[in-house]
Amino acid sequence: MLEAPDDITSAAMIAHDQAYAPYSRFRVGAAVRDEAGRVHFGCNVENAAYPLGTCAEAGAIAEMVVNGGRKITEVAIAGRGSELVTPCGGCRQRLREFAGPETLIHICDETGKLRRTFTLAELLPASFGPENLVR
Ligand code: THU
Repeated sequence: MLEAPDDITSAAMIAHDQAYAPYSRFRVGAAVRDEAGRVHFGCNVENAAYPLGTCAEAGAIAEMVVNGGRKITEVAIAGRGSELVTPCGGCRQRLREFAGPETLIHICDETGKLRRTFTLAELLPASFGPENLVR
């Protein structure tokens, strides 16, 4: 079993290297830090039935939740290319479930080198989250 290192950008880079992306050939790694300071990571996992592929962020969040984490305090995403590998729209909302507007999202290259940092509110303004549900 691989264990995520405490350095969140290294964790995203290690997850990137583990990605299963035979169809797009575009690997993505994601890492989240939880309220206890623990780092959880995940990679994209594609499928021959293309729409069933899952994003790296979804994997990292699932690992956090199964280990009891319920808040995301920091995020890192690693991927290659000249464009920043920012989270897709769906993953911005997935992160929103557990993160606040000021949560930092570090965008890295495939070696874990930091390229740019956003807040969640910059990537997902005026978002809808758990507090919006009136019970
Ligand atoms: N991908 C992610 O894992 N996270 C994102 O936020 C953007 C896209 C993956 C999905 C697919 O396996 C590949 O990148 C190409 O879209």
